[in-house]
Amino acid sequence: MNKTSMILDVDTGVDDAFAVLFAALHPEIKLLGITCVDGNTNVDQVVANTLKTLDAAGAGDIPVARGAMRPLLGKSQYAEYVHGADGMGDLGMAPSKRKIDPRSAVELLRDLIEESKEPVTIVPLAPLTNIALFLRVFPETAKKIHRIVLMGGSASAGNATAAAEFNIWHDPEAAAIVFQSGVPITMYGLDVFMRPGITRGEATRLKNATEPSAQFAGALVEAFIERLHVSPITLGDFGAVASVIHPELFTTEMFDVVVDTSWGPARGQTICDRRDAFLKELEPLDLVDAAKVRVTLDLDVEAVRQLWLKTIDKGWV
Ligand code: RIB
Ligand code: CA
Repeated sequence: MNKTSMILDVDTGVDDAFAVLFAALHPEIKLLGITCVDGNTNVDQVVANTLKTLDAAGAGDIPVARGAMRPLLGKSQYAEYVHGADGMGDLGMAPSKRKIDPRSAVELLRDLIEESKEPVTIVPLAPLTNIALFLRVFPETAKKIHRIVLMGGSASAGNATAAAEFNIWHDPEAAAIVFQSGVPITMYGLDVFMRPGITRGEATRLKNATEPSAQFAGALVEAFIERLHVSPITLGDFGAVASVIHPELFTTEMFDVVVDTSWGPARGQTICDRRDAFLKELEPLDLVDAAKVRVTLDLDVEAVRQLWLKTIDKGWV
């Protein structure tokens, strides 16, 4: 079986936990390591949540490193109103006994990429601070990245603001560095992010399953539904991971994309040039520093949902 070598960068986060569980459990993913960053909650809490999630997955010794504790510019702006005071549903779980890797996030990224015999895909599910720092600190190693498939941005509306998606809005300068890096980038953003969902009924089935990964996932989904008063709730970040190993379930298109780093109302917007070729020729591109980015626009919702359910709960039918 061909495995995809992958590093996750996370701000765990309820839906980051859905993605970590999936990446740790799916047989076609070789999860090399996880780097943590300030985002949904503070970076120390992100580390604690990520270690607990690996416990629930029954994962082996996957290195987890602490990264940036704030964006490159500006201040941290957390989303605890969405993810709970502990950033992961306030389930009251005991702390993990796993040890954090002594290396910083950028050092772990460097070592894992240099040591890998296979091409490495980086999947950031969080603000891009760690990835931007890594690109600047270790540019020679960065050239070896196979591709970056990130959850972030939008070719339509925003969520943190009318214009901007949370991960990009939290650190637009970092996002601009990553988008302009020349590394092939696929953006899994708000155009698809909300669509694969899990219902309260499915959460109950997961909670009653025999595997700890399923029980944990069920409790997380339930906590999310209770906090947000919506059912189904989105599997969110997981979709970006799924798109790496099952691209046939996703529709993408290439666009010129610019991250707005101005301090106005569009700060953090990913401006995607979706004009048709005729108009683009008539009105030459006025986007400065645009990057060619593959943007995910559609997906097979039911197949993606089933992929997650069957990976998290081996007994799911
Ligand atoms: O914009 C959606 C937010 O929820 C992002 O932080 C994403 O990564 C998810 O955790
Ligand atoms: Ca996230």
